[in-house]
Amino acid sequence: DKGNHRHFMAKEIHEQPEVVGRTLANYVDMARGQVVLREELPFDFARLSRLSITACGTAYYAGLVAKYWFETLARLPVEIDVASETRYREPPLERDGLTLVISQSGETADTLASLRYAKAQGQHTLAVVNVPTSTIARESSAVMPTFAGPEIGVASTKAFSCQLTVLLCLALAAGRARGTLSAERERAVVDALITAPGLMAEAVKMEAEVEGLAREIAKARDVLYLGRGTSYPMALEGALKLKEISYIHAEGYAAGELKHGPIALIDESVPVIVIAPHDAIFEKTVSNMQEVAARGGKIILVGDAKGAAAAGLDTLATLTMPDVDPVIAPIVYAVPIQLIAYHTAVFMGKDVDQPRNLAKSVTVE
Ligand code: F6R
Repeated sequence: DKGNHRHFMAKEIHEQPEVVGRTLANYVDMARGQVVLREELPFDFARLSRLSITACGTAYYAGLVAKYWFETLARLPVEIDVASETRYREPPLERDGLTLVISQSGETADTLASLRYAKAQGQHTLAVVNVPTSTIARESSAVMPTFAGPEIGVASTKAFSCQLTVLLCLALAAGRARGTLSAERERAVVDALITAPGLMAEAVKMEAEVEGLAREIAKARDVLYLGRGTSYPMALEGALKLKEISYIHAEGYAAGELKHGPIALIDESVPVIVIAPHDAIFEKTVSNMQEVAARGGKIILVGDAKGAAAAGLDTLATLTMPDVDPVIAPIVYAVPIQLIAYHTAVFMGKDVDQPRNLAKSVTVE
């Protein structure tokens, strides 16, 4: 049932404040400002020398964001790869180490094969899945469910923001266990997390603005997405979302990589979507935007008012996001990224819920 929405994807984008809130309710004790994992973990974060993460597509990008969180909050080294590579790379994995797999469906063939490989190497396995009865959930030593509810649209939206929510909670739990996170810092991040649903509801209100912008993006043959830090995986996710439902060629790049190649693509016909909340590395991204502007590139800034003022650049458009604590920015910025892809594809008359050549659950490799 699409409710009063035109597509499942629209419904699922709009549901995010609610389902992220529900997911949070299952992972945080709001009064104590602490993360609470309901399931006893069969391993100790404090004893891990490394975390291996594997997943496919959007779930893989959630894992890439989580790498930044585990590294900064828990000082835990993270190795991450797409599951189709992990399964055949024969990576050496420490006995009693930990492999984290992320999957909406819990049935993705490559992710399942990588999970089985990790188990065969004697690793503990932890699955962040949306379908609790799935094969991946059943075969993992521990399961951290997302509470997104059934996701029907082929392009993943609400499952992604719920995956990010669970992964940030896990990074906090790991930080506490490893003694790298003070109680004050944990409370501050939890307090920020609690604001996420409300901020996402505000972000959804930018829909009319995004619709106008979508008409411009629809004219492009190629679109570049740029970001730094956790906004880098968000750029990758933005590009994936746009290409899979609008069929416009899009690429995500780490903003600092621009001058190592992709800058050659930039001219007046290439929209450059810059994901840049006003965080500690914002100024670095501004230099990259200046490089784009100097070559006539059309900048679309997805940022906040402080950042837009500080950048002082001529942009084709600025989607002004509410102020967010940078640590939770990926969860909130998922919304405009999804809206951009959705409205561009709808404007172009594409079947957003059933894009060509794609299946919701990829059970064959
Ligand atoms: C993109 C998308 C896919 C899936 C990928 C993994 O919007 O939906 O890239 O994210 O096929 O699927 P799951 O999470 O079910 O393992």
